[in-house]
Amino acid sequence: MTPEVNSEQAALWNGPGGHGWAAARDMVDVVLQPYEDLLVAAAKERPRTGVLDVGCGTGGVIRAIAAALGDVPCVGVDISGPQIAVAQETENTRFFQADAQVHAFEPEFDLIVSRFGVMFFDDPVAAFGNLRTAAKPGGELRAVVWRSKDENPFMTTAERAVTTLIPDLPAFDPDGPGPHSLADPDRVRQVLGDSGWTAIDLREVELDCTMPEDVLPTYLTMLGPVGRALQTMAEQEREEILRTVLREFDPFVRDGEVRFPTASWEIRGSAPL
Ligand SMILES: C[S@@+](CC[C@H](N)C(=O)[O-])C[C@H]1O[C@@H](n2cnc3c(N)ncnc32)[C@H](O)[C@@H]1O
Repeated sequence: MTPEVNSEQAALWNGPGGHGWAAARDMVDVVLQPYEDLLVAAAKERPRTGVLDVGCGTGGVIRAIAAALGDVPCVGVDISGPQIAVAQETENTRFFQADAQVHAFEPEFDLIVSRFGVMFFDDPVAAFGNLRTAAKPGGELRAVVWRSKDENPFMTTAERAVTTLIPDLPAFDPDGPGPHSLADPDRVRQVLGDSGWTAIDLREVELDCTMPEDVLPTYLTMLGPVGRALQTMAEQEREEILRTVLREFDPFVRDGEVRFPTASWEIRGSAPL
């Protein structure tokens, strides 16, 4: 039987969090397109025989990699049923729902990628150790993870705007599973080393992400803790708070476009030969 781990995250990504991301899939893929491009370029660096995308969501990244590589088998795994349900398979892309921390993988991949899908494990050493079992000897890990909140001010603008308006918003635990849990490079090196990856390398990535201005209200009401809180409110209260939050995003809006800088790590590692 699969051990019961990551139960809080499983509840979130199979509940409101996962449904929000599933419904917002086209928007997410537009906003995070620069990171898709980065991982597609990584996949094309050398010949591949099998690629795994961890925390693949609705699968945009692994479908793009599959399209770029031709007939290489590509697989996406995610703990979120609502997202896997709408992840469209292609001739060489398949998806399945599982907790990547404990799923019994076969060692069939020479590349494991992730776009912001590996920061939610309750035991990162166990999880990255388990991912290593999915890699062929010498297989590569290429994952992007967010750097700190301070380096990604766009991501916390909504939370800052509602501090007094929604005082019971869940508090952020910097050491617990969450978007910024792998922001500390020393921690990442330690986690990857302890889980048996070699040739560990962290590269700073700074990319501008964009979305049309008229999509911003949808973005804010569908994603993240503020989005989830807004969804539970009566319409009038939601509209009032949303107006306040939107004003805080003015610095990012220009000529009908929302543009914001992002800071992340590209984590690289190799499975031992
Ligand atoms: C921020 S979303 C990124 C989704 C997708 N990679 C993308 O870029 O659109 C994080 C994803 O990680 C998934 N996830 C969280 N914990 C997981 C776990 N233990 N095993 C597999 N997937 C997990 C979530 O369900 C979610 O789809």
